[in-house]
Amino acid sequence: MFYEQPLQKWLIGAQILVGSIKMEARLWIKLVLAVAVISMSGCEKKDATVKKPEAKEIKQMSANKESFGKTPDGKQVDLYTLTNSSGIRARITSFGAILVSLEVPDRDGKLADITLGFDKLAGYLGVHPYFGAIVGRYANRIGKAAFKLDGVEYKLAANDSENHLHGGIKGFDKVVWRLEDLDDKGAGAMVKLSYISEDGEEGYPGNLACSVTYTLTEDDKLQISYEAETDKKTVLNLTNHSYYNLAGQGTGDILGHELMLNADKYTVVDEGLIPTGENRSVKGTPMDFTTPMAIGSRIGQVEGGYDHNYVLNSGGGMLALAAKVYEPTSGRIMEIHTDQPGVQFYTGNFLDGSVTGKAGKVYQKNYGFCLETQHFPDSPNKPDFPTVVLQPGQKYTTMTVHKFSTK
Ligand code: GLA
Repeated sequence: MFYEQPLQKWLIGAQILVGSIKMEARLWIKLVLAVAVISMSGCEKKDATVKKPEAKEIKQMSANKESFGKTPDGKQVDLYTLTNSSGIRARITSFGAILVSLEVPDRDGKLADITLGFDKLAGYLGVHPYFGAIVGRYANRIGKAAFKLDGVEYKLAANDSENHLHGGIKGFDKVVWRLEDLDDKGAGAMVKLSYISEDGEEGYPGNLACSVTYTLTEDDKLQISYEAETDKKTVLNLTNHSYYNLAGQGTGDILGHELMLNADKYTVVDEGLIPTGENRSVKGTPMDFTTPMAIGSRIGQVEGGYDHNYVLNSGGGMLALAAKVYEPTSGRIMEIHTDQPGVQFYTGNFLDGSVTGKAGKVYQKNYGFCLETQHFPDSPNKPDFPTVVLQPGQKYTTMTVHKFSTK
């Protein structure tokens, strides 16, 4: 008993000890597991951001091609679709290098097509006000449809009363562009299209080889970049003429959109919308968008609506903020950066319900706005404006970036 007692106690003590060690071991295991789970879940979270490529693999950045039909003279026309991992989808056709649609999420992630245009090629083959098109050789107006280079006068089509508008009768918006590249392996999903405009085409001098590249990036930017070379001195001014409605195309007018234009001046125009040569301050006038303002807030005070070239504060030459547009009901924001010196702000004043566009929507006055990044109108006849002359051996390169977000 004497021995038994301590032995028993010892055994009991040992059992308790083993038990508690087991308990502790279990606890320890649990603790270690918990730490592992927490740290692994931490890793998972980290990976989810770091591993964006995997997310990409699920939603897929892609660039595809399909047929969009044929022109009346039998030329094949393609439709290219660029998508990024956020689901933004841009469709471009080789006819006029037109941006056919641009689907962008709202603040709840719901996609809507924010550009005006047509579902089918037939719409673009008909008469329309340059929906989504690449405009050239000279976007905007050239006064009296003529200009001089080295003393030689070049006569162009007078297709806007006595003036020349957007490249003439058959501008770059009405020709079939050639596919150069369609790719989703690089910095974004991209399509590069090219066009050779022959010497004398629409009255312009020089064989001009030009290209436009649309790139949809993973950070929700649609970049439009242009390149061109000529074999004879010429003038050049390329832009994209998309009509935007950030609430969704065909849903109403754009008067509630809030616009900021990074421009203290605009080019004053005559009744034919040809600049007089004066760059006037916007301060204290309905032309002032240096701080965000609803497009419709003062439009009634601007005869005919906005259709003006703003002189960007950047002066051009390097990529800089030109405009920011916010649509309050959807929360969509579009920011435009460009290396061009000007931007034509146009409020779709000539839309009048005569065009039925995508999904059967009828486009009424002010149903879309354009922000055409460009050189100033009539620059070939205005020696004080930034030059639009392209010389042989010179390379024309310019870029405009549309960045999409929500708030
Ligand atoms: C540009 C012009 C407008 C009008 C449209 C097309 O924005 O500045 O005057 O011609 O193109 O309708």
